[in-house]
Amino acid sequence: MNLKELLNRSGTYLAERLPVEKMNYASMVKKKEVPVHRLSWGYYMGGLALFFFMVQIVTGLMLLFYYQPTVSEAHASVEYITEHVPAGGLVRNIHSWASSLMIASVLVHLLTCFAMKAYAKPRELTWVTGVLLLGITFALGFTGYLLPWHQIAVNATKIGLETIEKVGDYLPGAMSDWPRQIKEIIQGEASVGQATLSRFFALHVIILPLAIFGVLGFHLLSVQLHGMSKGIDENPRRQEKFFPTFFLKDLRVWGVAFMVLFVLGLCLPFESLFPYPLFEPFDPKGSTPDGIKPEWYFFWIYYPLELLPLWVILLGSAILGGVLLATPWIFKNTSRKTLRIIAIAAGVYLVVMTVWGDAIYHLLKGQ
Ligand code: HEM
Repeated sequence: MNLKELLNRSGTYLAERLPVEKMNYASMVKKKEVPVHRLSWGYYMGGLALFFFMVQIVTGLMLLFYYQPTVSEAHASVEYITEHVPAGGLVRNIHSWASSLMIASVLVHLLTCFAMKAYAKPRELTWVTGVLLLGITFALGFTGYLLPWHQIAVNATKIGLETIEKVGDYLPGAMSDWPRQIKEIIQGEASVGQATLSRFFALHVIILPLAIFGVLGFHLLSVQLHGMSKGIDENPRRQEKFFPTFFLKDLRVWGVAFMVLFVLGLCLPFESLFPYPLFEPFDPKGSTPDGIKPEWYFFWIYYPLELLPLWVILLGSAILGGVLLATPWIFKNTSRKTLRIIAIAAGVYLVVMTVWGDAIYHLLKGQ
């Protein structure tokens, strides 16, 4: 195949996946329909992730007025926001809870899209951009966790970055030094310190949100251009109008999500209900406290990492990442029933590791 042919083929492929000629009011708004079936609730999940992302942007901008990204002031500024800024504790709690709920809804969205075969032609790039969004969402959580500069966050980040360096032990020749170099680029200095905080801050508030805006733009545009996928049936028996029927139902779900966030976010000075923890400030001279753990959304990989040799986890993660990206091609001919079974198995694994990972770890270690 010569270059001209390659460019022609790529152009045709992209034109089929992003048919911009359909970008008109009639096909994107008036004619858009949503199939009705027993997995229809899955169609709310992408919208819910979008809602939590918008909450993150608004509350994040509010926190920026007071947060100080320096190792000497970060913890005190978060404490000040929580205790002295009017409604500051509420805003901080909502930001923290919405991050967890955004990740949970993105994971459920991924599983329901998989179960409904929503990645099938012509939606392959909708899926691939979704996988990128998942990666960016995890990176937002990882970088945000360090910002309050408390001892659990700093030590957990150190362990996370050390794990990257250890990858080098399993790579051949000159490549074995790449993970160490990557770690140093992220860390910015010999140990986790001011340079790391500045980098995580820049990533968390500018670079990753901009990346999400770009990738999400493509993701949502392709969803609009192709309409909703068929769901659990090749030929859905019933459909409902997206505007206004499904859209109003979407808004109702957002309303409930807002109320849940508000209740979770209520804290001092409005009486403490579910305050998001702010641990002791990091003390560089202090010893590493026990029980350092990442946020719950990393438990699915954290506990296996504690129990199995690193190479097993690395190989497993590389395979998982590859399979996720190549899902539209690997599972092209898989029946919807098999896809539902795989999605349920993956969902059960995530829930078991998140809720009982600690108990399983102690059971297997015999402690
Ligand atoms: C920041 C994260 C994400 C946001 C805000 C988001 C948002 C959305 C929205 C609003 C929709 C349309 C409504 C729906 O079907 O739920 C959608 C559809 C879709 N998303 Fe996502 N998404 C995200 C991540 C993902 C991930 C991780 C995947 C899978 C790897 C994915 C794959 C898809 C697919 C295949 C569709 C088409 C669904 C259909 O046609 O039925 N998305 N997304």
